[in-house]
Amino acid sequence: MLRSKIAGIGSYVPEKVVTNDDLSKVMDTNDEWIQERTGIKERRYGKKHEETTTTIGARAAEIAIERAGIQKEDVDFIIFATLSPDYYFPGCGVLLQRELGITKTEIGALDIRNQCSGFVYGLSVADQFVRSGMYKNVLLVGSEMHSMGLDFTTRGRNVTVIFGDGAGAVVVQPTEEENEGVLTTCLHSDGTYAEKLAFLNPGSHGGYHEKYTGEETDYGYSDAEYGEIFLNKHMVENAQIYPHMEGQFVFKLAVQKFPEVIKEALDKTGLGAEDIDMFIPHQANLRISQFVQKRLGLSDDQVWNNIQKYGNTTAASIPVALCEAVENGAVKKGDLVCLAAFGSGFTWGSALLRW
Ligand code: UT7
Repeated sequence: MLRSKIAGIGSYVPEKVVTNDDLSKVMDTNDEWIQERTGIKERRYGKKHEETTTTIGARAAEIAIERAGIQKEDVDFIIFATLSPDYYFPGCGVLLQRELGITKTEIGALDIRNQCSGFVYGLSVADQFVRSGMYKNVLLVGSEMHSMGLDFTTRGRNVTVIFGDGAGAVVVQPTEEENEGVLTTCLHSDGTYAEKLAFLNPGSHGGYHEKYTGEETDYGYSDAEYGEIFLNKHMVENAQIYPHMEGQFVFKLAVQKFPEVIKEALDKTGLGAEDIDMFIPHQANLRISQFVQKRLGLSDDQVWNNIQKYGNTTAASIPVALCEAVENGAVKKGDLVCLAAFGSGFTWGSALLRW
């Protein structure tokens, strides 16, 4: 039976380390609060005007391509997951193709906007393409440059302290080995609470969400012309161009959906939590990961957490953590690896793979 497998994995995080104390110099926050609530000690920020979501994604992709033992020109499909793209459009997929110097046009590039679950969604798409025989070398990248679009005042502290920059990439290839590769992926969505964790402006909504949220916000539309609905001076002057999160609401759903979607994957494959060798959760909050670990009955060496060093890198967090676990010898050939994510949308998902 044809399956897909991760043939190469790479990651890249920018050099600049930003500690909790560094943030406490620009906003009213402190190391104790951040560590206690999230587990985060520091995060990385990209170089302004030099590094972008695409360029750091390309650094991770180069490593993944080399480790897969292929050349860049062998890539036949690109999937790029991010919520912090270089441009509003076109997406980072084609920019990555250019950055890597892939000049052939017999290739497709797909952009995924599924935020925290972007990598799991991307892996599922890659898996389907490979298993159907359509593509042989799918390059899947999760990359974020959050630091360029956060609110560095006390007003934005509940969001800003959590996020960091980073990139991870994998090359997904076919395998006919019995005991290797992606065993299953499970994907879910529920748009009911789309605005609970969202970045609304710029956008065409023109207040559309008010019928769902029941909350009226002044976006400065009263004097806005057509071209100013998307983005106007009022939005900029009133700090309406930053991500918004109702943290506790998201937290409560996350701790419910993570175990559910992992159980679904285990049930589908006839496996149990006791069969998991390594669990790589989306690094949203150390407390969420610890809760899920406990629910699954896993020991500390069966879970890989690195949010302490990198914060929440959204679409990059799973491939960065998986890459680190592999490089540290914590994931070995034949191991059952479980990936799971929950985030904005809401969208969530899981994947089980035999390494
Ligand atoms: O990856 C995408 C999915 N995202 C998640 O899964 C995130 C899930 N949510 C969380 O991780 C947590 O809700 C947070 C870490 C975001 C926040 O922790 P919390 O324990 O839920 O705090 P809170 O938002 O309820 O705020 C508690 C207090 C508030 O002050 P008052 O109203 O009690 O006086 C906040 O203003 O903490 C205050 N606060 C801060 N204080 C210091 C919020 N952010 C900060 C901060 N530093 N950075």
